[in-house]
Amino acid sequence: MCGIIGYVGNEECAPILLEGLRRLEYRGYDSAGVAVHDGTQLNVRRAAGKLTALGDSLARSPVHGTTGIGHTRWATHGKPAERNAHPHVSGDIAVVHNGIIENHVELKHALRAKGREFLSDTDTEIVAHLVDIETTAGATLFEAVRATLKQLRGAYAIAVISKRDAHTLVLAKNASPLVLGVGDGVMLAASDVPALLAHSRDVIFLEDGELAEITREGARIETLAGAKVERAPVRITWSLMQAERGGYKHFMLKEIHEQPRAIEDTLRGRVSWEDASLEPAEMGISAADVAGIRRVVFLACGTSFHAALHGRYLLEGLARVPAVAELASEFRYRDPVIGAGDLVVAVSQSGETADTLAAAKEAKERGARILAVVNVQGSAIARMAHGTLYTHAGPEIGVASTKCFTAQLAALTMLAIHLGRCRDTLSADRAGALLREFVQIPNKMRTVLETAKHVETVARSILHTRDALFLGRGLSSAVALEGALKLKEISYVHAEGYAGGEMKHGPLALVDRDMPVVCLLPTDSTLEKMLSNVQEVRARDGNVIAVVDDETVAKDLATHTLRIPPTLEPFTPLLSIVPLQLLSYYVADLRGTDVDQPRNLAKTVTVE
Ligand code: F6R
Repeated sequence: MCGIIGYVGNEECAPILLEGLRRLEYRGYDSAGVAVHDGTQLNVRRAAGKLTALGDSLARSPVHGTTGIGHTRWATHGKPAERNAHPHVSGDIAVVHNGIIENHVELKHALRAKGREFLSDTDTEIVAHLVDIETTAGATLFEAVRATLKQLRGAYAIAVISKRDAHTLVLAKNASPLVLGVGDGVMLAASDVPALLAHSRDVIFLEDGELAEITREGARIETLAGAKVERAPVRITWSLMQAERGGYKHFMLKEIHEQPRAIEDTLRGRVSWEDASLEPAEMGISAADVAGIRRVVFLACGTSFHAALHGRYLLEGLARVPAVAELASEFRYRDPVIGAGDLVVAVSQSGETADTLAAAKEAKERGARILAVVNVQGSAIARMAHGTLYTHAGPEIGVASTKCFTAQLAALTMLAIHLGRCRDTLSADRAGALLREFVQIPNKMRTVLETAKHVETVARSILHTRDALFLGRGLSSAVALEGALKLKEISYVHAEGYAGGEMKHGPLALVDRDMPVVCLLPTDSTLEKMLSNVQEVRARDGNVIAVVDDETVAKDLATHTLRIPPTLEPFTPLLSIVPLQLLSYYVADLRGTDVDQPRNLAKTVTVE
């Protein structure tokens, strides 16, 4: 996730671009840059680090002009460094981009064959070259961008400026957000509304497959195929604060709703949407690595540990390799037996968690291979690992992890399918069936998100509870643990997650009519056993809230049901966690806690 901004008007635009980027910094903050047209040429300024570094550079040596583009980066291809910061330049063209160009490797090869040289490790630089080739051959900037887009596969929001035209920007969108701001003799473009609000409250949301040319006079919008688009601006009435959260009351709620996109971005470039195949090169682990694996050891903390449990179940099931999931904070203190032949998968949203980092380092010193599954590019765990499988959830601001968790589930599911194929324990047919379902998951998640109002009603019914239990078996046992953690960390309701079969070994003693018991009952291989566990709860008058994909299953058992669409077993957690996140969110919000910054907790835990 990155933030882009563009301005065409009458004022000095560098400060306007900087201010817009500041409003977009939540989308990424490892480097930033601007390109400003001074009437004669393009001046590009870039800086690694937070936006203040770019601000300092511009204060030392200002750039002048009234047309420009800017970018704040969240690295996906190429580590955070000035040379990878946007804008990227080729000839007369400068480009900023948010998204991932899936076919960048083949395009780069083709451009190199034409003698083009690359100065960065990004996928974006190819866009600058392609547009430059077209304009050099005589195309207008608008047509050059159109011709370029036809060669790209993947997600993008781009803004392009040319040295040859001091008063025009060209923009395009596919699967990444882009909105135009309409002012009096001024046009803007940005990844998100907050960046525009200081200059315009009348905005036009571009749709996928559209491109726009903006000048001081207004916007011309067309589809890629050339059809004209007439779209009236809509008036934004949100306050700036509301706008930063996309209109949601809290970042956590916004991030819960961003999950379908986070999953799409995590799959993008690794799973082909067209033929549902895997792209092994992007998996962070080579065939040679796979051949040498004797055992897989997942190391993680908190929510990431719950994702690791999911990884462990799936890896054993699909790749038939012994796998364990260990709490990183315990692993180091018991003289673990680990070494050559062990693949350690260190799972971490931040990539900086001290316990996970230290545990992975220890395993590395003892000879294990380390694969990082992290969300933050260039983070400490990614740097020390032999390979990295990045989740592309974008920056997560709410302390309680939501979209990073489901992106981790998605990444680990991909890894399990990949290892299953490499080890030949998973047939091509079965892998194909799994991948075909995988690409449906984001839309199925969207249908779960549509039930938010109903989940809020259920939350209201348990608002004053002191305790809650979450039960699941098999893959759903990790979801039960995660559901309980979400509830306790943001609402301060005491909650426990249990594997359903453990109930009769102790926790059943807690159950009475006041105890909400959230039961995960998807139609899977453990359903029958789970239903017996739920009967045990009902027999003690427990208040059952059932997560089901088939309403009839819990008919006489549950006080409330939370509905998810049916899916194949490995993907159930990606759907069933969503109502539990919403449930926790609404309980916390209705109780009036500080949802985004719960007491005593920090987003990145860098102490052991
Ligand atoms: C809970 C939560 C934490 C983190 C844990 C590990 O919502 O976010 O439990 O999962 O602190 O953090 P990372 O994933 O950054 O290693």
